[in-house]
Amino acid sequence: MNHAAYQKCINPFCGATYDVGETKVGCTVCGSLLDILYDWSKLPVPKALSYFEHRWATKGTDAAGRADFSGVWRFRELLPFYRSEADIVTIGEGRTQLQDARLLAREMGMKPGNLLLQYEGLNPSGSFKDNGMTAAFTHARMVGAQKVACASTGNTSASLAMFAALSEMKGIVFIGSGKISFGKLSQALDYGALTLQIKGDFDACLRRVRQIAVDVPQMGIYLMNSVNPFRLEGQKSIMYRILEARDWNPPDWIIVPGGNLGNCSAFGKAYAEMKELGLVKKIPRLAIINAAGANTLSVLVNEHKLTWNKGEVHCETIGKHYAALDEANYHPHTVASAIEISRPVNLPKALRAIEQMNGVVREVDDDAILESRAMVARYGFGCEPASGASVAGLKLLLEQGVIGKDETVACILTGHELKDPNATVMYHTGLDMKSVQDLAPKTEPKGRLANRPIAVADDLGSIIKAMGGDEKLALALEMPTPKSTLPVAEY
Ligand code: F0G
Repeated sequence: MNHAAYQKCINPFCGATYDVGETKVGCTVCGSLLDILYDWSKLPVPKALSYFEHRWATKGTDAAGRADFSGVWRFRELLPFYRSEADIVTIGEGRTQLQDARLLAREMGMKPGNLLLQYEGLNPSGSFKDNGMTAAFTHARMVGAQKVACASTGNTSASLAMFAALSEMKGIVFIGSGKISFGKLSQALDYGALTLQIKGDFDACLRRVRQIAVDVPQMGIYLMNSVNPFRLEGQKSIMYRILEARDWNPPDWIIVPGGNLGNCSAFGKAYAEMKELGLVKKIPRLAIINAAGANTLSVLVNEHKLTWNKGEVHCETIGKHYAALDEANYHPHTVASAIEISRPVNLPKALRAIEQMNGVVREVDDDAILESRAMVARYGFGCEPASGASVAGLKLLLEQGVIGKDETVACILTGHELKDPNATVMYHTGLDMKSVQDLAPKTEPKGRLANRPIAVADDLGSIIKAMGGDEKLALALEMPTPKSTLPVAEY
């Protein structure tokens, strides 16, 4: 394997390391999240970010040329966990753009040129997830994985299904029943993934798929959710591209919606590494925006004052909060279905990113999300509701005087407008197309490639059976339904 890259537990009191050739969803010793780290002294690190510009002219059809064409891999010296360029699984992801949103800036009372929108919906599957999937599939190929799975609010499943089809791996996606927008569901079906509609929400789906990946090795599942540290390596590239579009000058602020908190975690790591390597002088501030109906990070940071605390995260605070959610049988609810998550798995890494980027957390309600989404569409080229949260967050932070009118701000628009047309039609007409469709007569699909979702109870045996495994396996394992697990070890 690659000896300059390794996996390391983020818990500084543990710090266990693993080879990049191992497949892990957490530290075996303490259960914390893992990072991919590099021994930079053994690697050819560019002296300046402008080094990457030569790649604009070198895209071609061999492995290096295909990597140069990708908006992720053209920065490959900053995510060098692969062995050779031949390992890289790419579909030309990350060719996205930073729009100077002058009309929207005027509407928000900002100076022209100070409001930038990073359109990650322009990725091949229509969301930022492709940045991460290209990296995780590269690792999956390196370790010889054949079956890949994820839980998803929609975009991860679309991206996984696309990359699985491309690399001839078996894709399996777990989605909450009735939770996913049609644009995203249609993609998972179309790309041929086995689509399991679990009775429950995203958090329940993630607990199950994680349980199967970790505790049922007989099923041979490679987990593609953002607990997979290789995913986050690819998502760092969003920060590189914003810098690239600005002649390598960081903006003052980065604003991103927060769901499972993978993106913000990747951004913190990207900047911490670039600072360490002397590639940037300034680190922008970070604002993570929760939906009010899925506000775990906001509550923990703003009300309970939870911080990274040099890695000694106060897990009792998280434990109490999750126990209260369990007790109240609380399920998150927001029109921004992509971020309808109340037990974010990357919570400790997000706390670290807040420290690395002097960050803040805010929450915005559904009306603010829908208004901001519509405003982006009126003056730009649209985004899905979750992405509207970053612009709604900007509006709030301007009102609060946290962001100054003279500061430059890059809002990450994480998903394409056409991902969730129901939300758009509903906003403009008041008509809920989803409920109209529910009343429509059901017909059997006729297409040769028809790929219907399978409804499954939130029960290990039924899920294993639906995945083509032996349901007796679940009985033999006698595993209870997993509770909300803490994303940090008890130190
Ligand atoms: N925006 C969109 C459009 C998303 O799909 C997601 C996450 C987020 C924001 C939040 O990003 O998890 O890195 O904080 N969607 C996941 C999914 C959970 O399953 O598609 P995060």
